[in-house]
Amino acid sequence: MNANTPKAALRTSDVTSDALGYQSGFGNEFATECLPGALPVGRNSPQRCAYGLYAEQISSTAFTALRGANRRTWTYRIRPGAVHGPFARIDAPRLVGRAGDEPSSPERLRWGALPIPAQPTDFVDGLFTMALTGDARAMSGCAIHVYAANQSMKDRFFYDADGELLIVPQQGRLRLLTELGILDVEPQEIAVIPRGMRFRVESPDLREAGGALEGIRGYVCENFGAPFRLPDLGPIGSNGLANPRDFLAPVAWYEDREGDFELVGKLDGALWSARIDHSPLDVVAWHGNSTPYKYDLRRFNTIGSISFDHPDPSIFLVLQSQSDTPGVDTIDFVIFPPRWLVGEDTFRPPWFHRNIASEFMGLIHGVYDAKAEGFVPGGASLHNCMSGHGPDQGTFEKASAADTSVPHKVADTMAFMFETRTLIHPTAQAMSLATLQRDYWQCWQGLRRNFDPTRR
Ligand SMILES: [Fe+2]
Repeated sequence: MNANTPKAALRTSDVTSDALGYQSGFGNEFATECLPGALPVGRNSPQRCAYGLYAEQISSTAFTALRGANRRTWTYRIRPGAVHGPFARIDAPRLVGRAGDEPSSPERLRWGALPIPAQPTDFVDGLFTMALTGDARAMSGCAIHVYAANQSMKDRFFYDADGELLIVPQQGRLRLLTELGILDVEPQEIAVIPRGMRFRVESPDLREAGGALEGIRGYVCENFGAPFRLPDLGPIGSNGLANPRDFLAPVAWYEDREGDFELVGKLDGALWSARIDHSPLDVVAWHGNSTPYKYDLRRFNTIGSISFDHPDPSIFLVLQSQSDTPGVDTIDFVIFPPRWLVGEDTFRPPWFHRNIASEFMGLIHGVYDAKAEGFVPGGASLHNCMSGHGPDQGTFEKASAADTSVPHKVADTMAFMFETRTLIHPTAQAMSLATLQRDYWQCWQGLRRNFDPTRR
C-alpha cells in the first residue's frame, strides 16, 4: 500500500485489524476524515462540499436536548441516505416486535445456549427475541435478543430505527462495518450502535471466512429509549467503574462499492427491505458525538466492599439508559467481572433478594459465582419483578462454610445483566425453546430449614 493511499479507501477485504484505528473517549466530539479537507472547517453545511460529497446530519437525540445529553453527527458522504428504493415488509419469524397480551410468568426462568442454525444465517436473520419490556413506539424500554449466526453480511446492510443496539458477543469475534467506521469486537468486549446507523456484520472466525467456528453467538439489548450513557459516580469520585477513555469510536472509513444490494430497516417491530445500488457505508468524513463505540469489559474498574457486606449490584453498573424519573433508569447494563472478595464475617456471593426491577442475565465467559451449575456461557436467566432468587443450594452451603479471614478471588468469569424498571415479558418462542430449563426452580429447594431457636 502506497503511504499516501488513504487506508479507509481500501476495499473491506483488504482491511486488516492493523489498518484500523480508534478514537478514545465516551461521547467525545470526534472529527475524522479519510481524504484531506473532506471535513468542512468552521461550518457543517457549505454550499458545495469537498470532493463532491453530500452533507447529512444524523440526530440521536431531540434537536433541543440539553447540551450534556445532545447527540448528533454530521456525515460527508458519497450519496445521501435517502438514495434507495421503496421499502417492503419482509418476514422476520424469529423477531418479536411487541410483547403479547398473555401475562408474564413470575417463574424464575433459565435457558441453555441457543443452538447455531443449520441453515445459512447472517446476523440479522440470526436475531431471536427472548423478551421485551416497554414499547418501541413509545421509545421506552427494550427488546432482548440472542443472535446465533453462521454467515457474514456482504451485500446486505441493516439499521434499527426502533433502538440503539448494545451487542454483547459470547462466541466469535465480530467485525462491525458501520457508516462511521469499523469496530472489531471480541467476546468480553461490547459494542453499541446508535439508533438508525447503517452497518453490516462480518466475523473472521466463521468457517466461510476461513475461521474455525461453525457459528457466532451473543446477546443484544435493543434500547428503545434514551441513549446509553455513563452513570454519575457520586461518592466514588471522578474515576472508577467504566472509565470514559476506555470507550473507543472508529475512525472514518468508507467503501465506494456499487451493485445490487439490500438495505434492511427495523421500524415498529418489523423488518423492511429496500434495494440499494451502492454501499451506504460511504461516509468519507464525519464529526460529532453520536457514534458506534466499543468497550472492553475487562477494563472495568470493579469496586466493592473492603470491610463487610456486599453492596447493591448497582456498583457494577457499566452503562445506563435514563428514564424521566431522576435516579431510576429504564435499562441498566451491569457486569459481574473477576474480582476479589474480602468481606469479613460476610456471606460473599450475591445475597437472596426480591427486587422491583426485572433482571435478564447472560454469561459470556466462565462460571457465575452465585450458581454452581446450570448457568452456562451463551445461556440466560430471567428473574422478573419480586420473584425470589439468589445463590443455589451448593453455592449457599459453600459460602456459609468459607473462611472469610482470607481473600478469595472470583476469577475466570464474565456475567452481565440487563436490568429494567419495567416488567420483562418473555416471548412465547423463548418459553417454547428446548433449552428452557424447566427444573430451574429446584436449585433452591434443597435449602434446608436451619432454624434453631435455642442456638444463636
Ligand atoms: Fe437478582
